[in-house]
Amino acid sequence: SIKAVRGSFLDITRTVQCPEEIEGHLRFIKDGLLLIRNGRVDWFGTWADGHQRIPASIRVRDYSGKMIVPGFVDTHIHYPQCEMVGAYGEQLLDWLNKHTFPAEKRYNDLEYAREMSAFFIKQLLRNGTTTALVFGTVHPESIEALFEAAHHINMRLIAGKVMMDRHAPDYLLDTAESSYTQSKALIERWHRNGRLLYAITPRFAPTSTPEQLAVAQRLRQEYPDTYLHTHLSENKEEIAWVKALYPERKSYLDVYHHYGLTGKNSVFAHCIHLEDAEWDCLRDTHSSIAFCPTSNLYLGSGLFNLQNAWRKRVKVGMGTDIGAGTTFNMLQTLNEAYKVMQLQNYRLSAYEAFYLATLGGADALGLAETIGNFNLGKEADFVVLEPTATPLQQLRYDNSNTLIDKLFVMMTLGDDRSIYRTYVDGRLVYERT
Ligand code: GUN
Ligand code: FE
Repeated sequence: SIKAVRGSFLDITRTVQCPEEIEGHLRFIKDGLLLIRNGRVDWFGTWADGHQRIPASIRVRDYSGKMIVPGFVDTHIHYPQCEMVGAYGEQLLDWLNKHTFPAEKRYNDLEYAREMSAFFIKQLLRNGTTTALVFGTVHPESIEALFEAAHHINMRLIAGKVMMDRHAPDYLLDTAESSYTQSKALIERWHRNGRLLYAITPRFAPTSTPEQLAVAQRLRQEYPDTYLHTHLSENKEEIAWVKALYPERKSYLDVYHHYGLTGKNSVFAHCIHLEDAEWDCLRDTHSSIAFCPTSNLYLGSGLFNLQNAWRKRVKVGMGTDIGAGTTFNMLQTLNEAYKVMQLQNYRLSAYEAFYLATLGGADALGLAETIGNFNLGKEADFVVLEPTATPLQQLRYDNSNTLIDKLFVMMTLGDDRSIYRTYVDGRLVYERT
């Protein structure tokens, strides 16, 4: 099947090593044409150069006046925490015990997990997010349901069942053995089934015994092209706890590293309070970081040092981290990221933010050759943004002369109302009404 989409397009044509490089690879086509064949980019360029290639039988989808960008990539989110977003009053460890664990309890029920998977994927799409790296619960049913729903629309989604065999209520615990068997079965059934990918998902070091981390290592060795997804260095009490539980390890990250869980396609959420040696380890192992500004502010966890990540050449993507994070929306997440960086005297530019939310996020997930821009052969996941969704945005837009200013205003004032259409696999999957 062939599709033709017309409008203004913006993307970044290749990955970069520092934010200064981004502008040189920015591609803005004011009147552009995207041709899609079987869910992939078949031709991309200006309308003038391309319109004669459109087969006569094809109706062009015309989004003139809108801004079409690659689908957003959310590199860290929990689907079973929608029920308790905005829970009041606690920081990480108390928040987990008081609000999170009770919410995750219900996902042993496949029917409930199916209902919530449908809800969750709808929220991603109505916020322009077309790829996400997702935490389930300890129950394999949670991931079964989520993958079923993502498979239905052929979404590029990465997810895994939580491995957690201590320091949580009994109803949320597996064992080293059962986490092995259950993760393995899910990998066999879902990993690389269509566009789906599996992430081995120990919740974080405090909730896994050494035996369970060894199981995660074994899974990773048996399935070297799966992902590893966990939390790292989010909260000071958490870090002290890890040091008490694993006194023989040099640092929090050294626990994961010792069990072979660092490496390409290992994604560590938060990484706020890293020691120098931990930064070096992330770099040396080609591990990635998920930067979760709304979560880090909401739980009072701290300010992520993005500048250090660039300096150390550690790849970073944006994460919403629902339900510690407070929004599914990537524009709002970038807006908060800007403020987190302001507090550290670093000016996050609109181009840098846009990179992190698209191609940079894809790169952090090892998918820079697959998604993240409109290069030929890329999977056709994209968003049609409405830059003037509210009267204030309209006024501000009318007083805006440059692309970078327009983009910056979009991320500062934008939200779900800015998401006009979302496409996954070349198909329209969300329309704002
Ligand atoms: N660390 C361990 N589990 C969690 C979780 O569910 N959310 C966050 N933000 N941090 C965690
Ligand atoms: Fe998280």
